[in-house]
Amino acid sequence: MTRLFVNVDHVATLREARKTVEPDPLMAAQIAEKVGADGITVHLREDRRHIQDHDVERIRAAIQTPLNLEMAPVEEMVQIALKTRPYQVSLVPEKRQEITTEGGLDVASQIEDLVKMKDRLQSGGILFSLFVDPDARQIEAAAKVGADSIEINTGAYSEIKGGLEIEAALEKIRQSATQAAALGLHVFAGHGLTNENVQAIAAIPEIEELNIGHHIVARSVFCGMEQAVKEMMASVKEISVHDVGQA
Ligand code: PXP
Repeated sequence: MTRLFVNVDHVATLREARKTVEPDPLMAAQIAEKVGADGITVHLREDRRHIQDHDVERIRAAIQTPLNLEMAPVEEMVQIALKTRPYQVSLVPEKRQEITTEGGLDVASQIEDLVKMKDRLQSGGILFSLFVDPDARQIEAAAKVGADSIEINTGAYSEIKGGLEIEAALEKIRQSATQAAALGLHVFAGHGLTNENVQAIAAIPEIEELNIGHHIVARSVFCGMEQAVKEMMASVKEISVHDVGQA
């Protein structure tokens, strides 16, 4: 069954709007876990616009499920990861001016640097994942790096409103998932996923894990974090909301 990792960044976005202590992303992570989320994801951005260093430490220490740390492929972040020892690091490209991650990592142009980073992180017992667009060249490069997994960027898919374009975007993701699995990579996906568009992605057999944040936190404003995570768990695992947490 596809695993759901809940990204709690935007709980911290709200807190940072006031530079105060609430709402606490750790509390969101604990609620997500209580309802059955398989893991927690945080993105420690270089500009610290939402998650702070102390959040990574506190969340790592307090949660029972695995922590996936998204970060830019830069030395500062590698050192933080080696100190905090999350279950997994996912490397994502970062631009200061972007509102959110805009695309996958250009793995092909930095294979050697990424191999060095991977070796250091894997030696620290941390799984190494690369966030890539559904692009055959980048997936091949990720396999050359020796990554444990890739996370396919579903951002472009999630921006399409309907029609034939959706099927074309899905087909690209399916082909990428098949290619990556054939190369021995574990396959994850994420970005822009909602209760409405996640089912087609969760149905792709090679996709093992999804990272979903914004939609869950947005829903939680109106229905609470527990209900928002339950709804997403039901969508991802294709079960009824009432059966979430029963298995
Ligand atoms: N995966 C990656 C690599 C991301 O950068 C993000 C956003 O931080 C997500 C998944 C989650 O995306 P969303 O918040 O749109 O669900």
